[in-house]
Amino acid sequence: MPNDIINFTPPFNIVRVSHLEWIVTDLGYSKEYYVDLVGYHLEEETKDALYLRGMEELNHHSLILRKGDVPKVSYLGLKVFSEDDLDKAFVFFQGLGQSVEWVQRHAQGRTLRTTDPFGMPLELYYEMDRGSDILQKYHLYHGARVQRIDHANMFHNDVNAATAFYVSQLGFRVTEATVLDKRDSESPYMATWIHRKGGVHDFAFTNGLGPRLHHMGVWMPSVQDIIHLCDSMASNGWRDSLERGPGRHGIANAFFLYLRDRDGHRIEPYVSDYQTVDPDHPARIWNLHDPMRQTLWGQAAPRSWFELGMEFEGLTPKPASLQAVPIIAPD
Ligand SMILES: [Fe+2]
Repeated sequence: MPNDIINFTPPFNIVRVSHLEWIVTDLGYSKEYYVDLVGYHLEEETKDALYLRGMEELNHHSLILRKGDVPKVSYLGLKVFSEDDLDKAFVFFQGLGQSVEWVQRHAQGRTLRTTDPFGMPLELYYEMDRGSDILQKYHLYHGARVQRIDHANMFHNDVNAATAFYVSQLGFRVTEATVLDKRDSESPYMATWIHRKGGVHDFAFTNGLGPRLHHMGVWMPSVQDIIHLCDSMASNGWRDSLERGPGRHGIANAFFLYLRDRDGHRIEPYVSDYQTVDPDHPARIWNLHDPMRQTLWGQAAPRSWFELGMEFEGLTPKPASLQAVPIIAPD
C-alpha cells in the first residue's frame, strides 16, 4: 500500500470540509425533505436557494440547495485558518496550472474558487456569517436533528493519486484505507479516508467512475435519532428513499444510514467515529473483501450504493484506473 509522506507544513492550512452546494430541481420538495424530515435548520431561504445548517453549527450554511435544471454538485467548500491562507492557496493552485478565481458568495467573505488536479471544484474561504447559537434552543429541534457536516465521500478514478495529492501536498492524513490484500505492502489503495480536523475524515475516496460525489456525511446527536429517522420515513411514505442501513461500518466504527433523495443526492446520517488528532495516529487497513469492513455485522451493501453518484458541475468523470468487485448484496 502507498506510504505517502504527510506534509505537516503545507503551503496553506485547511481546517476542515465546511459546506457543499447542490443543484436541486424542486426547492419545495428539498425543503420538505431536508428541513422537515431530515432535520436541518433553515437559516435562510431566497427565491432560488435554501441555506441550511446543523443545530450546533454557527456558520450560516453547511449545505446550500440551489434551484437548477439538472441535479449536480456545484463544489466542495473548505474553511482555511486565515485570510492569509487564502492568498497562499491562490498562489499554490495557480502554480499547479489550475483555474483560480475570487468569487462572491452569499454570507461569506473572500472566496477562492479553483479545482484540484483531478477537476473537483473547490471553494476556499476563511470568514462566514454566523447565525445565532441554537445548540440549546431545544424547542427548535425537529426531524432527526442534524448536528453538523462531517465529511464528503467521492468516487474517484485514481484513488492513489488523489490520496497522494491531499496527503503530501495539503497535509491531510490517512486514518483508514482499503486494499486488495493488506499482507502485500505493494497493494494499492482501493479506498481511503483522510482528514484535517482530527476525526476519521473530511474526504473519502472510493475506486470508481469519478470524481463524483458519493455522499455527504452528516453528524447526528445519537443512534436513536437515526433510528427515529428510519421510522419516520417509513411511516410517512418516504421508504423508497432509504437506500442502505441502518448499520455499523467496520470502517470508522460509524453508525450509518444512507438516504437518496428524488434528485439522486445522497446523505449519510452518521454518528460515532473516533479521535485521530495525534500526528502519528496509525491508519487502520482493511481488505476489500472483508465483509466486516462495509458493515461490522456482515450485511452487504446494495448495487446502487456502489454505482450511483452525483456529478460535479463542469467535470466529466473518468473510468476507474483499478478494477475490483466489492461484495454486493443480491439484487
Ligand atoms: Fe460516509
